[in-house]
Amino acid sequence: MTTLYYEKDADLRNLRQRQITVIGYGNLGRSVALNLRDSGYDLIIGNREDDFARLARNDGFIVTPITQAAQGADTIFLMIPDEIMPQVYLEHIAPNLRTGDMLIFASGYNVAFGYIEPPNHVDAGLIAPRTLGIGVRDGYLNGLGYPCYVSVAQDGSGRAWEYLLALAAAIGALRQGAIEVSFNQEVEIDLFIHQAVLSAIHSTLLAAADVLIREGYPPEVALTELYLSGELGMLFSRAGITGLTHALHMLSPAGQYGIMSRTERFQEVKMQRQLESILDNIRQGNFAQEWVSESADGYPRLKALQRRFQSSALWRFEREVLDMLRGLPPDA
Ligand SMILES: NC(=O)c1ccc[n+]([C@@H]2O[C@H](COP(=O)([O-])OP(=O)(O)OC[C@H]3O[C@@H](n4cnc5c(N)ncnc54)[C@H](OP(=O)(O)O)[C@@H]3O)[C@@H](O)[C@H]2O)c1
Repeated sequence: MTTLYYEKDADLRNLRQRQITVIGYGNLGRSVALNLRDSGYDLIIGNREDDFARLARNDGFIVTPITQAAQGADTIFLMIPDEIMPQVYLEHIAPNLRTGDMLIFASGYNVAFGYIEPPNHVDAGLIAPRTLGIGVRDGYLNGLGYPCYVSVAQDGSGRAWEYLLALAAAIGALRQGAIEVSFNQEVEIDLFIHQAVLSAIHSTLLAAADVLIREGYPPEVALTELYLSGELGMLFSRAGITGLTHALHMLSPAGQYGIMSRTERFQEVKMQRQLESILDNIRQGNFAQEWVSESADGYPRLKALQRRFQSSALWRFEREVLDMLRGLPPDA
């Protein structure tokens, strides 16, 4: 049985003497920093001198170079992209770690795949929201919180869980109950959802759009039905509240029957094998190696995929349909 942690399991007094820094002020870094400050904690933002640093200053934070921020703190949130984090860690963080310091990751990626090995005398914890950065801020402000995973990979101080749960509570991550997972489980399931589930949904949408438009349905109708109406999104967000089986009941009986009676057609052994091989590829660390070399080469394949997608018929149809739905003339 997994362990869940709630706000009652956290003691914020554990943070009294802590000097907190948030490295990175992007999607998640900004939300985490604003939530910590609203919970009454002073903190420094560590960031290079550019737009994100300016945004943090506009939000009223003190911003220093990353090295200086790491030197002045004993609690370090690493809120920068996973693929560049090892280099930043080795250059700016590792040389400044002292006994009792705590590293907070928002993804199990670098520790699980061995790109970052925290020294024995520090704590290493995970607070991994199951929502986008903006969701972390909204969930804090509306009081409902957001789904989250927590974990401790290293307990140099012997009190890592106490500090981790207090920090998680301070950013609103325990309001719905945070699930304890391992660093490996977090990153494996995170990557699996992108590579197996979202890619399967993505390819189904592309294929469906192609069939409908080829069969003569107006692109504006095909794309509105597939996702521009937001109905699919509503069904899935409803499933996030009531569960998928209950959410399906919101559809007409014909809709429910259609979905449940045709699902088997797509449950091929091949699909199962595909899902298993994607998960295996992730667990072996092969995807992580692929992504490290892709980022080291300046993301050539990602850019080529994005160009290919942006030159696709669907992309063009989508632009036209969105403009039309917004009442903009075709050549706006
Ligand atoms: N995005 C999410 O919704 C989400 C959800 C859950 C977990 N996470 C995890 O949270 C962590 C942060 O993700 P994110 O999406 O928030 O990242 P992000 O928005 O892409 O991070 C942008 C920040 O990283 C800094 N940065 C980028 N390249 C850098 C470099 N080479 N050297 C130093 N700083 C650099 C940027 O500052 P400058 O470019 O100005 O230096 C900026 O402050 C990751 O571990 C991610 O897996 C993210």
